[in-house]
Amino acid sequence: MKRSLLLILLVAGFLTASAQNVSLVNGWKFSPGDSTQWSATGFDDKSWQPISTAESWEPQGHDKLDGFGWYRLHVVIPSSLKNNAFFKDSIRFDLGYGDDSYAVYLNGQLIGKNYNTDPKSGFYGLCKTTIKTNDPAILWDKDNVIAVRVFDTGGAGGIYGDPDMFSISMIDIMDYARINTESDFSYGDNNTLGKTVKVETGSNYTYKGQLDITVVDPETGGSIFQKTTDVTFAKGSPYSYALTLPNLQARSYMITYSFKDDRSGKKLINTEGTPYILTPYVHAKPQINGANVFGAHPGAQFLYKIPATGHKPLVFKVDSLPAGLKLDATTGIITGTVNQKGDYHVVFTVRNRLGFAKKKFTIKIGDVIGLTPALGWNSWNAFGLSVTDAKVRVAAKTIADKLSAHGWSYVNIDDGWEAPQRAASGEIVANEKFPDMKGLSDYVHSLGLRFGIYSSPGPRTCGGYLGSYQHEDQDAKTYGDWGVDYLKYDWCSYGEIAPKEPSLDDYKKPYQVMRASLDKVNRDIMFSFCQYGMGDSWNWAGEVGGNSWRTTGDITDTWKSMSDIGFHQQAEQPHARPGHFNDPDMLIVGKVGWGDSQHNTRLTPDEQYTHISLWSLLSSPLLIGCDLGKLDGFTLNLLTNDEVLAISQDALGKEAKEVFKNDNYLVYVKELEDGSKAVGIFNISGKYQTINLNWAELNLGGYTKVRDVWRQKYLITNNKTFKTNVPSHGVELVRLGK
Ligand code: GAL
Repeated sequence: MKRSLLLILLVAGFLTASAQNVSLVNGWKFSPGDSTQWSATGFDDKSWQPISTAESWEPQGHDKLDGFGWYRLHVVIPSSLKNNAFFKDSIRFDLGYGDDSYAVYLNGQLIGKNYNTDPKSGFYGLCKTTIKTNDPAILWDKDNVIAVRVFDTGGAGGIYGDPDMFSISMIDIMDYARINTESDFSYGDNNTLGKTVKVETGSNYTYKGQLDITVVDPETGGSIFQKTTDVTFAKGSPYSYALTLPNLQARSYMITYSFKDDRSGKKLINTEGTPYILTPYVHAKPQINGANVFGAHPGAQFLYKIPATGHKPLVFKVDSLPAGLKLDATTGIITGTVNQKGDYHVVFTVRNRLGFAKKKFTIKIGDVIGLTPALGWNSWNAFGLSVTDAKVRVAAKTIADKLSAHGWSYVNIDDGWEAPQRAASGEIVANEKFPDMKGLSDYVHSLGLRFGIYSSPGPRTCGGYLGSYQHEDQDAKTYGDWGVDYLKYDWCSYGEIAPKEPSLDDYKKPYQVMRASLDKVNRDIMFSFCQYGMGDSWNWAGEVGGNSWRTTGDITDTWKSMSDIGFHQQAEQPHARPGHFNDPDMLIVGKVGWGDSQHNTRLTPDEQYTHISLWSLLSSPLLIGCDLGKLDGFTLNLLTNDEVLAISQDALGKEAKEVFKNDNYLVYVKELEDGSKAVGIFNISGKYQTINLNWAELNLGGYTKVRDVWRQKYLITNNKTFKTNVPSHGVELVRLGK
C-alpha cells in the first residue's frame, strides 16, 4: 500500500483491535544512556530498571533526562497471529509515541526508525514499524527481544501512550479498507442531519458484505435509526451511503458504522457523534463583541479591529480616540501610535440600516500587552511542518471573513518556515515555502489581524529547523522588520546547551535572553513560552516577561489528552492575570492532522463543547489548530459564541478554580469583572448524568440570574439549587449574575 494511504488510514483511527494482537504493554526494562550492545538478544538487562509505558521516563526517576535512553522487552510472537490473519504478509509493531527520535530493533536487527542518519533529528510522533512476516529477524513461537533506542530533545522522553497503542498485529484485510466519515454533515429543515459515508479500499481485494448503520440516543440507549445494506467495494470504486436523520433533538447521537466482509469474516467498525448547534444565529442588528480592553506600549504600532457582527455594511465610529490613532470607519480597524501612557476610555459605535450598538472600551497604553488571552490560529495542529504561505493566507482570509467579528485576531506560523541556513550576515531567512515573509505579514495586517511566528532557543527547533541560539538579537530584529506580533518560543535542543540538571536560573535564561532581545525592538510582540512547564514555569514566567507559558506537553485530539491536561491546571491557576496567562496548549477542534493530511478531530461534539468551555474558563490563549480552509458549520458555530468568548476575554484575567470534584463530575468557577461568575459543570463520566447542585454549598449563594451561556438563554431556577442533565464528557456552562 502507498505510504500516504496507510498514514491516512492509521490517522483516521479506523483500526479495530482484533483478539489476535500481542500486547506490548508490560515487561519493559529501561536504561538511560547509549550503547551499541543494547540491541543484542544476548545482552543481560537484569540490572535494568522496570519501566511503565503509561507515561514518559521523566516521572519514573529520570526527571531531567534529555538525550539517549533504551527500552528492552522479551516477547513470544506466536505463529497463530499469522495463521489467523487473512492477509499473511506483513506484521506491525506499535510502540506508542516516540519522544522524540527512535530506532526499533528486533533480535538485534534494525526494523524501523524515524530519522535518516542523525538520531537527533527525528521528531516526536507515533513509534511504529512494519516488516514482512518472512523477515528473518522474527523468531516465530520463540522468545524475541524488542529494543528501542530513544533520543529525547527535551521535556518528556521515551515511548509511552495508552495500552491499546502497544501491540504486535498483522496488517490484515481491514487495514486496507476504511469507513470514511470525513465528509461534513449538512443541516436541513426539521432538524435533519445528512451526510455521505463511504466504504473504500486501496487494495486489489474486492470486499463484499454488509454495512450496518445504527444511531443511538446516548441518554436512553434506544436506537433511533438502523439500516443494513449489501455492499461491494474495490480499489477505485468505493461504496457511498447517503445517511439522513430527521427530527433530531439538540443533542449528540452516537452513530456506529460496521462493515463485515463475507469471505474473510473480518469486521471494520467506525463510530462518530452527531454534531448539534447551540450558538444562536447572529443578529442582523449590530453587536460589538470581544474584550473591553486592549493594551499597547507607548510609541509602538497600534492595531485593533473592532469585532462586530450584524448585517453589512457596518459603519464604525469611536468617540474620544487618543491622539495618534485613526479609525477606518468602514472596516473598524484602528491604527497609529500613542506616545502618552494612560488609560483611554473610548466608546465604540457600530451602525447598520437596522440600528446601532455602543460599547465602552479602554485602550491601556502602558507596560503590559496581551491583557486578555490571545484569540487566533496557529498552523501546528493542522499542518505540522507542512505549513506554507498559501495555507497561512487561507487561514488569515477565513479569520477575517468569519471569525474576526467575534474577536479572533492572531495568525501564527509554527515551526517549519525556517531556511536550512542563515544568510552570510547571520540573519535568519525563510525557506522556499515562504517566499515573502514581509509580504505575508503585510497581508495579514491589511485584514486587521496580527501575525505570529515560532522559534526555539536552541540551535534547532523541535522540527529540526534552525533555532535562535546565539542569534537572538538578530532574530528579534528580523521579526520586528517583518512585522511580527507574536513569538512562540520553544525549548527544543536547548537541552544540549543547558546543564544536564538545569537549575531554576537555567530554565529562565533562554527566555530572559530573548526577552531582552525583543525589548530592543520597537514593536509589541507577544511572547509565548513553549517549554512545557519545566521548573514549574507558571511561578516565574510572568516575571521573566512571558505573556503566556505552556504548562504541559503537546495536546492531541483525544478525550484522554484534552481532559488530562484541562482538568489538571489548578497548581497554575493563581498565576493567571492580565498580560500573563497559563497555556495548556492549542485547540483540537475541526480538521486537525499535524501534517499533510487532516482528519476530523476525534473529540466528540460534547467533548468539543467541553474543550472550548474549559479553555475559556482557564483563561488560556485560544489558538485554533485546524485547517480553516475546511471549516465546517459545527466548528464555526463552536468558535463564534460571543457569550462563551466573553468569559475567555474577561478583563479581570482570572483563571477558574475547581470548586467541586467527584468521580463523575467537576465544577469550575471563574470570577468575572462585573461581579458575576462563570460556572462550568463537567460530566466526566461515561453516561448521561443528572447533576444536582446546591449553590450555597459551592459558595455561590445569592445569585438570582442563571444564564445558559452556550444557548444564550436565562434559565428558570429557584436560586438555591440547580439541576442539569449533562451528556457524557459534556458541559453545562452558566453565568451567575445578580
Ligand atoms: C513542540 C511544541 C509544538 C510545536 C512543535 C514544533 O515542542 O510543543 O506545539 O510548536 O514543537 O516543532
